[in-house]
Amino acid sequence: MPTRADAWHDLALLPEPTLTELFAEDPQRVNKLSGRIELGETGVLFDWSKTHLDDKLLDGFEALAEAAGFAAMRERLFAGEVVNSTEGRAAEHSALRGVGKAESVEEALVLRDRMEALVRAIHDGAMGDVKHLIHVGIGGSALGPALAVDALARDFPLCDVHVVSNIDGQALEAAFKACDPETTLLAVASKTFTTIETMTNAASALSWLEQNGVADPSGRVIALTANPEKAVEWGVDETRILPFAESVGGRYSLWSSIGFPIAMAIGWEEFESFLEGAAKVDEHFRDSNGRANLCLRAAFADLTYARLRKAETRGVFAYDERLRLFPSYLQQLEMESNGKSVTAAGDPVDGPTAPITWGGVGTDAQHAVFQLLHQGTHLVPVDFIASIAPGDSLDAAHHRILLMNCFAQGAALMAGQASDDAARAYPGNRPSATILCDDIDAATLGALIAFHEHRTFANAVLMGINPFDQFGVELGKAIAKRIESGGAQFDPSTTALLEKAGLG
Ligand code: F6P
Repeated sequence: MPTRADAWHDLALLPEPTLTELFAEDPQRVNKLSGRIELGETGVLFDWSKTHLDDKLLDGFEALAEAAGFAAMRERLFAGEVVNSTEGRAAEHSALRGVGKAESVEEALVLRDRMEALVRAIHDGAMGDVKHLIHVGIGGSALGPALAVDALARDFPLCDVHVVSNIDGQALEAAFKACDPETTLLAVASKTFTTIETMTNAASALSWLEQNGVADPSGRVIALTANPEKAVEWGVDETRILPFAESVGGRYSLWSSIGFPIAMAIGWEEFESFLEGAAKVDEHFRDSNGRANLCLRAAFADLTYARLRKAETRGVFAYDERLRLFPSYLQQLEMESNGKSVTAAGDPVDGPTAPITWGGVGTDAQHAVFQLLHQGTHLVPVDFIASIAPGDSLDAAHHRILLMNCFAQGAALMAGQASDDAARAYPGNRPSATILCDDIDAATLGALIAFHEHRTFANAVLMGINPFDQFGVELGKAIAKRIESGGAQFDPSTTALLEKAGLG
């Protein structure tokens, strides 16, 4: 059986036809490289035909997947076995959506029932008149909730949610200005319940409730955590602690009680539909093989660019205001998961790992950064995400112009345009993929996020790395602690900066 090195070697030798040549060669290309995932009443189309994937590359990547033991790793993932080798943990985010090891699904359901009971009770008035929720958390305890609330609760939120992550007090002060303390709840979201930014923000938010005369401010706090003991120590009553399993990673935790603000804003039924949309993608990822697996196929294209063609970044542009936070959510998912230099076995990797994920919203980005995409010297594979149904109720021209522009950009990147004037020539042959949703409802957003989780996992398996640890974030935290405790020695530049800021 060929090894991974053999498979990479074969892939590197393949010819590189242009996108225009690929379309000319195969009239069925759009159908072959587009696939839909049905979500009940809606669905999502994944069109990868404007990437350079062709039968040769797909065969080569399928050989790589075999050499990398992809099917066995995927089985381990869904069986709740250890896939996070450096920390000896399973990664059971899909169990929260009902897909995974039976016992883990059962346990997740018990916790989900508890969360449902609390959300429904609050909506029914058990904690008095609740109009606002300040959710403090950071990284995975903030980015997913912020995205989902912003995308799904624009029109008539059941609760006005403010996600506050930054330790810069301006972030929390902005939330205070927007909330009436008498009708505000405080959610403290932290897997570890030790993260300094979150615990500092939580303490300040609690003082704000106290200082504003709220009776029993501690009784307004809800803890969302995998470390309930710490939450009890911090003073949260057990009845208001919503736990989740240690085997759920921070950046994969929005499906757990970390999703509390989502359920508060959109209601319990919609939150369940969010989980169900994700579960449809879990089933697709678990049950389809090779190129028919849309998450794996996307990873084949990702690696074509990151590894074979050395693209250093990957652009993601949502042509939908509801998804304006999607790129920043994806940055953590992809870069914290796959920004690694060693394999799961601890050896140096055999090529580049995660490219830098960046992006924005269309059409705004067209008037700012697309110049570089069309004529710059960097190869940037781009994903476009759009919705057929509009999110607004204005004149249909708005949505028509939005979608036309989205499709025009993909076509322009691919076709390019010759010109005698070098400054006006477009080289073309620049790849893009388009994710076209019927609508952006809760199920669709769940599906979009789960698609990217599995795409990230598939990339990791093909590269032989562990996507579920993040030791790279620890050193800076440790140095900040040393600064705080004082007396430590640093390099001359850091010492001078500390002195200038009065911290030395
Ligand atoms: O510093 C990185 C990180 O550990 C992320 O992985 C995590 O999502 C975030 O911090 C927040 O951690 P916690 O939920 O434990 O507060």
